[in-house]
Amino acid sequence: MKYQKLGNTDIEVSRISFGAWGIGGGNVWSDMSVDVRHVRDLLDHAYDLGINYIDTAPVYGVGTSEKILGEALKGCRDRFIVQTKCCLNWRNEGGEFEYVRDGYTVNKDHHASAIRKDVEDSLVRMSLDHIDVEVVHRMSSVVPVEETMSELNKLIEEGKIRAVIISNSEPQNYEEYAKYGVIAGVQEKFSLLSDDKRRYFDTLKKYGAVFQVYGSLDEGILAGPAILEKTFGADDIRSKSKWMKEPGRTALKKMYEMLAPLCEKYNCSYANLVQAWTLRQDPNINLLTGFRRFATMDDTCKVFDISLSDEDVQEISRIAEITKKG
Ligand SMILES: NC(=O)c1ccc[n+]([C@@H]2O[C@H](COP(=O)([O-])OP(=O)(O)OC[C@H]3O[C@@H](n4cnc5c(N)ncnc54)[C@H](OP(=O)(O)O)[C@@H]3O)[C@@H](O)[C@H]2O)c1
Repeated sequence: MKYQKLGNTDIEVSRISFGAWGIGGGNVWSDMSVDVRHVRDLLDHAYDLGINYIDTAPVYGVGTSEKILGEALKGCRDRFIVQTKCCLNWRNEGGEFEYVRDGYTVNKDHHASAIRKDVEDSLVRMSLDHIDVEVVHRMSSVVPVEETMSELNKLIEEGKIRAVIISNSEPQNYEEYAKYGVIAGVQEKFSLLSDDKRRYFDTLKKYGAVFQVYGSLDEGILAGPAILEKTFGADDIRSKSKWMKEPGRTALKKMYEMLAPLCEKYNCSYANLVQAWTLRQDPNINLLTGFRRFATMDDTCKVFDISLSDEDVQEISRIAEITKKG
C-alpha cells in the first residue's frame, strides 16, 4: 500500500480508501446485503492490505452504512481514519429538497444547526467519540459558506471532528471554503467516462490539498464487461447509468473490446487498467473505491503494480473519448 498526507493536516491515509456506500444496501445497491460480521471481516482484510481510510455518509442506506460500520469498528477503531459527511439529512426539518431514497425524503441543509446535528447524529450512529474527516457532501447556493465553516471549525475545536473536505464542488467553491479554514481535500467523481474534473488540479496543488476520487469505476460499470450480463432493480444505481442503456451499452461493449489488448499487455483486470489510468492523472489522487467483497479489494490493491507507459495512458484517454462520443 502507498500512503499520503491528507492535505495540510497531520493525518496519514492509504492512497486506496474504502467506500462504504455499498454496505448501506437498500434499493440502491440491491444485489448484495451485508451484515456486521461481514463488514468486520472486510475491515480486517482492509487492515491486512494496508487500507486505513474509510468513507461513509449518513445517507448511505439512510443510516445503515454508518450503523453497520460503527458496530464493525468496535475493538478496531484505532486502526482507521473514519470519514463521514454532512449537509444531507432526512429529518424533515426543512432545507432544500434533494431526492427520495428508500422511501425517505432527503433534504440539503448547510445551516450551522443542521451541520452540528449531522455530526452529532453520526457520532451516535457509529458510537464514536470523534470523526476524523467530515466531508461537506454537496455545495449550497443558499447558506453562506462562512456559517457552515464557522460551525465546522467549532466542531474541530471541540474535538468532535479533526479535518474537513468538500465534495461535489468546483475550484471556486474550494477557494471560498478555504477563506474560513483548512480544507484538506475534495472528494469528486472522476472516471474515464465522467465529467473532466482535471480542472481542479491547479487549485489543489496551490493549497496542498488531496484529490479524493470517487466513482473511478463508475459504480462497477467500468470494472469489466461482465457488468453487461447483469440486470439490476429499477432503483439500483447501476440501472440508472446511461452505459447500461442503449446507445451507451453498445459503446461500453466496444470500449471493453478496445481495452482488452492493454489488459493482456499489463496482465491485469479492466478495473486495474482503468484505475491505473486514474492514478496517472495527478500525483495527489486518493482512490476511493467501493467494496463489499474481499476479491474486489484484493484486485484493486494490485493497481500499484501496474506502470502504464505514457503512450498507453494516451491510448486509454483516446478510447474513452471515442466511447463518450458513442
Ligand atoms: N461524495 C459523493 O457524493 C459520493 C458519491 C458516490 C460515492 N461516494 C463514495 O465513493 C465510494 C466509491 O464509489 P462507488 O462505490 O459509487 O463506486 P466505485 O468505487 O466506482 O465502484 C464500486 C463497485 O465496483 C466494484 N469494484 C471495486 N473494485 C473492483 C475491482 N477491482 N474489480 C471489479 N469490481 C470492483 C465494487 O464491487 P463490490 O461492491 O462487489 O466489492 C462495487 O460494486 C462510495 O462507496 C462512497 O463512499 C461519494
